Amino acid sequence: MEKPAQVSVRDLRISYDLGVLTHDMLAQNPFDQFGEWFAQAADSQILEANAMVVSTVGLDSQGKARPASRTVLLKDFSESGFSFYTNLESAKSLDIATNPNVTLLFPWYELHRQVIISGRAQLVPRNLVEEYFHSRPRQSQLGAWASAQSTPLEDREVLDAQYAACELRFAEQEVIPVPQFWGGWQVVPTRIEFWQGRESRLHDRFVYELNSDLMWYPTRLSP
Ligand SMILES: Cc1cc2nc3c(=O)[nH]c(=O)nc-3n(C[C@H](O)[C@H](O)[C@H](O)COP(=O)(O)O)c2cc1C
Repeated sequence: MEKPAQVSVRDLRISYDLGVLTHDMLAQNPFDQFGEWFAQAADSQILEANAMVVSTVGLDSQGKARPASRTVLLKDFSESGFSFYTNLESAKSLDIATNPNVTLLFPWYELHRQVIISGRAQLVPRNLVEEYFHSRPRQSQLGAWASAQSTPLEDREVLDAQYAACELRFAEQEVIPVPQFWGGWQVVPTRIEFWQGRESRLHDRFVYELNSDLMWYPTRLSP
């Protein structure tokens, strides 16, 4: 492979000048605001607009709080919450079982935008898990069965052999059952922040939170 050219990290910078966000532009509630920005992200050329970084807090070997982040795909959103699917015995799911407080971050760099959702994760009801699992390609369903996500693997061949064993196991079955260890997390938000990059690093930031009447209200934050 060709050696990559030397890059000066500190000289990498762009100017944020694609748009503005004002109080008047904001939707009444953060779900409508998210819907509007998500539609624009999905319509744009950006890759995987539904990719989001989910951060969890688990415990290290000394019992101290230890944050961890990884990308997952948003598969549903409504006023009830924001959902993703995963292995329920994975590191992230074990973290959530310890502490359901999570953060979801959408890094829409190409649009000079970022959305950060904080809330509590709860299990997606099993009927919705079934419905989503069966909408996935058969190979993905087999992949869910084949991988004990987050656990060490001796080598690639072991994973391929596990996949082949699952193919064989379900060869006669048109409908592959949902593994008990696979499911979804729905994040019920308590805070949603919208960030629009502006010139001179004087960005527009608004955070929606619930007031005592359980109505969402936005507050502008310093960038
Ligand atoms: C673009 C992208 C999308 C991903 N989507 C998912 C997903 O929807 N569900 C999932 O379990 N892992 C997904 N992954 C893999 C996770 O980032 C992660 O490696 C995996 O879930 C194991 O994480 P954990 O060990 O922290 O639990 C995705 C990775 C990328 C880069």
